[in-house]
Amino acid sequence: MLNLSINGKRHALDLDPQTPLLWAIRDHVGLTGTKYSCGIAQCGSCTVYLDGAPVRACITPVSDAVGKEVTTIEGLSSPAGQAVQAAWRELEVVQCGYCQSGQIMSAASLLQRNRKPTDADIDQAMQGNLCRCATYARIRQAIKVAADKLNGVQS
Ligand code: FES
Ligand code: FES
Repeated sequence: MLNLSINGKRHALDLDPQTPLLWAIRDHVGLTGTKYSCGIAQCGSCTVYLDGAPVRACITPVSDAVGKEVTTIEGLSSPAGQAVQAAWRELEVVQCGYCQSGQIMSAASLLQRNRKPTDADIDQAMQGNLCRCATYARIRQAIKVAADKLNGVQS
């Protein structure tokens, strides 16, 4: 039995330790906001945090999450996370939406580390998150709006 803490809730899961964390989250715990796309750490749609650091859940064995706090899009309640989600709504960033929980997790992680990211900082932090709908321009703009929200700048 593997004991996981996901979004502050404890879960005892009877899984092979090598099972991808993504399947534990989606299939066994039922949190489907985190998406599966490439399965080989190339697209970022499965991004979650382990103790606050972004990881690709499709290639992370569930055993790596034991003893750590897993945060998924459903539990993203930090100030940076809230600012990003508000900016995403304000700028209507989402198109089909499939990639967007991963995009939001990466954007919130960036703002957690760096409240005033430059374009280059944004491009570097977001380069591992692919969007088939090409919402990249709105994502970059929304990260700037979220940074202003976090820094108390009126928009
Ligand atoms: S599904 Fe994990 S990076 Fe693409
Ligand atoms: S919004 Fe459709 S894949 Fe990104």
